[in-house]
Amino acid sequence: MCGIVAAIAGQNIVPVLLEGLRKLEYRGYDSAGLAVLNGAQGTQLRRLRAVGRVAELAAQADEQKLDAAIGIAHTRWATHGVPSERNAHPHISDGLAVVHNGIIENFEPLRARLTGLGYTFTSETDTEVIAHLVRHHLKNHPDLVDAVRATCGELIGAYAIAIVTEGEDSRVVVARHGSPLVLGQSDSGNYAASDTSALLQVTRNMIYLEDGDMAELTRDAMRIMRLDGTPVARPVQVSQLSADAVELGSYRHYMQKEIFEQPAALSNTLEMLAQARSITPNLFGVEADNVFRSVRRVLVLACGTSFHAGLVARYWLEDIAGIECTVEIASEYRYRKPVADPDTLVVTISQSGETADTLAALKYAKSLGMTRTLAICNVPESAIVRESSLRFITRAGPEIGVASTKAYTTQLAALALLTLAMAKTRGTLSVAQEEKYLGALRHLPGAVTRVLELEPQIQAWAERFAMKHHALFLGRGQHYPIALEGALKLKEISYIHAEAYPAGELKHGPLALVDRDMPVIAIAPNDALIEKLKSNIQEVRARGGELYVIADAGTEMAEGEGVHILNMPENYGLLSPVLHVVPLQLLAYHAALVKGTDVDKPRNLAKSVTVE
Ligand code: M6R
Repeated sequence: MCGIVAAIAGQNIVPVLLEGLRKLEYRGYDSAGLAVLNGAQGTQLRRLRAVGRVAELAAQADEQKLDAAIGIAHTRWATHGVPSERNAHPHISDGLAVVHNGIIENFEPLRARLTGLGYTFTSETDTEVIAHLVRHHLKNHPDLVDAVRATCGELIGAYAIAIVTEGEDSRVVVARHGSPLVLGQSDSGNYAASDTSALLQVTRNMIYLEDGDMAELTRDAMRIMRLDGTPVARPVQVSQLSADAVELGSYRHYMQKEIFEQPAALSNTLEMLAQARSITPNLFGVEADNVFRSVRRVLVLACGTSFHAGLVARYWLEDIAGIECTVEIASEYRYRKPVADPDTLVVTISQSGETADTLAALKYAKSLGMTRTLAICNVPESAIVRESSLRFITRAGPEIGVASTKAYTTQLAALALLTLAMAKTRGTLSVAQEEKYLGALRHLPGAVTRVLELEPQIQAWAERFAMKHHALFLGRGQHYPIALEGALKLKEISYIHAEAYPAGELKHGPLALVDRDMPVIAIAPNDALIEKLKSNIQEVRARGGELYVIADAGTEMAEGEGVHILNMPENYGLLSPVLHVVPLQLLAYHAALVKGTDVDKPRNLAKSVTVE
């Protein structure tokens, strides 16, 4: 969480810092700040901070006509200390300024020690210890790079940091351990940021730092080294990301844009099927065939929406590939003492590829001897991808809205491919079945387009919904995870309390909640469990609960008093979860619109959860 930007160039970098922060606002948006050096030889450090959005900070910078050739900036998602100007970054120690993304776990003993040494703290943040510690180390290590290195040696936790100091207007020092940091190289200057999107405004030449790297950026050069001082070379990669991909265009919100981009995102992710007559394990890496043949079980590790994608895949992998699959919330797995089976394929699913819990769970699984790993991820250069031996990159394009939508459906597409590839290598897929499933995958973008056409009806539902305080979501089988995902979307952006249950669980407790004020959303595809689901629905109706049923061809349920039916265009069999989640995304979006919440930046949340 939090986004950082640093710049040193031959011209005013304040607009670059502000534009970079705007692009990083998805990572945190409770306060923002920047520090620049100006005056002869950078004799004056100027800091601006604002509670709220980057726009507030930009207004201040404009008013003060801030102009400088070197600076650092930050957009915050509060971890230590409330969102306030006092806690906003940069933090300063006697003319030295630092911005930080991550968490310093040992900040309390460091703070006590530095207080004892006479340093005064003005914030509640963990970051302020970094500023004072670098300042302290400068006493014995007059070179800023050495002082930062000595500081990093004392930090426990995760960080990406950028530092400038008064009297040194010719360099910015950056370092990373556990939080992402990319450098941008251009003729006009050198830059650093938490992700590529912040730097596309100035360059496409990116250098992705590894954990334990630090760098000194000057106007004309970059010097990269390990934290022990050993110089290292990291490749320059030319980013293919289109600047338009991160623009809102004619849409009102990124979430809306991303919901409607799903047909294209699925087409891109499944592009290889256009010409292919059969599925090949190579899609996941050259070693995939061997790995898929030799493993005995699959362990999926993920968080949030990505975890829900894993839950759907469990039904697919067990049913079609005949392989045992367990799906675990990464933040739980990383602290359990599981029985590790080396013949396991560990699959991590992550939009960002930087989620701290998923990354830690992956490393933990590897440390237990489960070294066959596959990342399903939307960001090719991310830590989770780099940590995995096999990979499948979803091609959803940048997802900016905090609520995950197109990342989810493309993860499902990737997991369907994984299921088919594993089934094929393990001999559980006939040629006829393979053709049928590949045909269904090819038609998925078109099928999602038809579901999106149902928006007006869902909008009408949302009007009724938005006034409610609670909602229940029901599903069975592979649609139970879709109910979970629908509930997560609704609570995340409309702040309506929502719970999801497998419909068969209703009578074991949650039915007690049902009355006329409790809307119940049932995912009701015409599958093997439909008759059982209909009985569960009757149980709700008999208690006066208002029902919203997402049905499909053949479900045969009639509208009536207290029963609203949305008819999906077709029954999509195995891939039905990909379609059924779309109305739930739209329902959450429109309920949030009616309530007037901040759809793309819901309160208390951030897009990339790079802290525990
Ligand atoms: O980047 P990841 O997929 O690893 O993120 C995992 C979750 O933080 C994420 O899916 C979160 O639950 C979304 N905000 C849900 O919409």
